[in-house]
Amino acid sequence: MVFGPSPLLPVVNDPDGKQHDPLFTPRVESAVSKAQELNFPPDFIFGSATSAYQVEGGIVDTNWNRWENRKTRKDGGDTIKNGESAGAACDMWNLFETVDLPLIIQLGLGSFRFSIEWSRVEPTEGNFDNIALARYVSWCRKLREAGVEPCVTLLHFTEPGWFIDRGGWEKRANVACFVRFAKHVVERLAPHCSQWCTLNEPVGCSVNGWLAGIHPPGRQGAVVTTCCVLFHMLLGHRDASKAISAATPAAGKPMWIMIANNIVWFEATWRWNVLTRALAAFLNMFFNYCCMDLCVHGRLICVFDLFFCLFGIRRDMRSLRGTINTIGVNNYARVQLAMGLFTCCCPSKPAVRGDGEVCSGEQNIAAGCISGDPHNPRFEMSDMEWDLVPSSLGKALRTFWKRYRLPLLVTESGIADGNLNDERRVRYLSGCLRAVAGAIDDGVDVRGYTYWSLLDNFEWAEGFRPRFGLYRIDYTDMSRHETGGLRLYRDVIHRHRSKHERSTASTASTPSPDSVAIQIDGVAADDGTKQGGATASTSDPVLANGVTSDEGTAVTNNDVDC
Ligand code: BGC
Repeated sequence: MVFGPSPLLPVVNDPDGKQHDPLFTPRVESAVSKAQELNFPPDFIFGSATSAYQVEGGIVDTNWNRWENRKTRKDGGDTIKNGESAGAACDMWNLFETVDLPLIIQLGLGSFRFSIEWSRVEPTEGNFDNIALARYVSWCRKLREAGVEPCVTLLHFTEPGWFIDRGGWEKRANVACFVRFAKHVVERLAPHCSQWCTLNEPVGCSVNGWLAGIHPPGRQGAVVTTCCVLFHMLLGHRDASKAISAATPAAGKPMWIMIANNIVWFEATWRWNVLTRALAAFLNMFFNYCCMDLCVHGRLICVFDLFFCLFGIRRDMRSLRGTINTIGVNNYARVQLAMGLFTCCCPSKPAVRGDGEVCSGEQNIAAGCISGDPHNPRFEMSDMEWDLVPSSLGKALRTFWKRYRLPLLVTESGIADGNLNDERRVRYLSGCLRAVAGAIDDGVDVRGYTYWSLLDNFEWAEGFRPRFGLYRIDYTDMSRHETGGLRLYRDVIHRHRSKHERSTASTASTPSPDSVAIQIDGVAADDGTKQGGATASTSDPVLANGVTSDEGTAVTNNDVDC
C-alpha cells in the first residue's frame, strides 16, 4: 500500500489568466455533443441518489433535528444557514410512489440510491416500526419491477435521538445498536435489493462532527474522539456487511457491499513547499485511503498500522478485511493547501462568498499556518464554492482501481447550480461522464455512475440554498421541474440504451465483462418504450404527479435531443 504524493490534477490555462479543468468544457454546446458521443459498456448502470433526511420530510427526532434546534454552533456561526430546518424537505416520504418513481422510470435510470431513516424504522430503542419499514420494502419492489435496481444506504448522517442520548458513536457499546437495526433492515430488504452502502462518508461525518464542528454534535478539534467515532462506525459496517453477505439475495443478483467514500484530493498550491506537500499526502491518506485500506486489506500503511496497533485494536483492524466487495466513490471537491499567517487551531474557516454570504465552512480548513480551500479564484466554482474539476473523478477511479483492484461504482457525483439556466450542471455532468468513460477505456472496472441528486434537497449545514437536483423543486407546492442537466442525462441514457438494444438484437449473446473480485450482474434494463417522449413533451407546470419542462433553461432542445 502506497503513501506518497499523488499527481496533480490537470489544468488548462486560459488566455485571460483564468484556469479550467480540461474536462470542464467552457462551451455548453460542445459539452453536450461530447457527452452524446460517449460509449459505455452494455451493462453500465446510470443511476441517481437521495438520502432520507435530505428529501423525505417529516423526520423529527435525530441528531440533525437537534442540531437545527440548537441554532448556534460553538464558533458563533449558524448550525444551519439562516436557521433553516429540513422540515417537509421534498415530501418524498409521501410522494415517492406517485411522483418520483414515475420520474425515475421516465429518466431511464438503471439504479436508484436512497437511505433508510433509522429513526423511522426504530423510533424508540429496540422497537421497530414495521409499517415504516414496509414502505421502504415497497419502494424496493416497485423500483425492481420497473427494472431499476435499488441501492440502499443504511446510514446517511442521521441517527435517532435515543442513540444520541446513549452517547452515539462515541461509545463502542453502541455499535451493537446500529448492527441490530442493520440486521433488521437487511433481513427484510435483501430479497428486493442487491446494492448496499452500509455507511455514507464515515470520514467526512466524523471530521465534520468532531473535528471541524460544522455538523452535529459540533465538537471542534477532538482528534481522539474523531478517530474513535470513525473506528466504531467501521465496526458497525463490518457487522452490517456480514449480515448482508449472509442474507439470501434474489436469484442471479449477487450483493454489492460498499461504503460510499468521499474522495477529496488535497494538493499543495505551491509545489516547492515541501511542508504543504507532505501535509497533502497525509490528508489524502487519511481522507481517501484509510477506510478502504482497512475494509479491503484489514490494515493501514505501515507506520499508521503500527501506531494504531499500539492502542490494542490490531485484531479489530484485521477483522475489517474483505468487508466490501465494491468501492463506492463520492466525488465533488478538491482542496488546495497553502501556508499563511498563523491562525491558531481553527479547523473550519467560514468563507465569505462574493455576494457577502457566509458559507458553512465545509472543507475549508485552517489549522496552524496552513489553510485549505476548495476554491481557487482562477477557477469556475459551484454554488457550494467548490472548483469544478471533473478530472478529479477520473483520478479517483484510476487510483482506487490501481490500489484495490475491486469493481467501482460512482455512488455520488454532482453539482449545486441554482441558476434556472443550469449550464454549469450540463458542462460538469458532461465532464464527469467523460471522466468515467475515459477511466473505463483505460481498463478500470467502473460498473456505474450515480448523479447526486435526483431532487434538490436539504443540503445539511447549507440549508436549502444549494440546488443539486436533476429535478428542481418548487418548495411552495413541492412540484418537480426538469433542469438542463436532467435533459442531458436522459439523452445520454437513452442513446446508450438504444445503441445496446440494437446490438443485442443483432448478436446472439453479449459476452459479460470479466469480473475481478465478484461476479456482478448488470441490472436489467426497462423496456425502451416508456422513455423520453412523454416526459419531455410535458410542458405545463407540474404538481404532485408530473413534471414540467423548464423553459428557462439555456440548454434547449436543440442542444439536447429529448
Ligand atoms: C453527501 C450528500 C450531500 C452531498 C453534497 C455528499 O457528501 O453524501 O448528503 O448532499 O455530498 O454536498
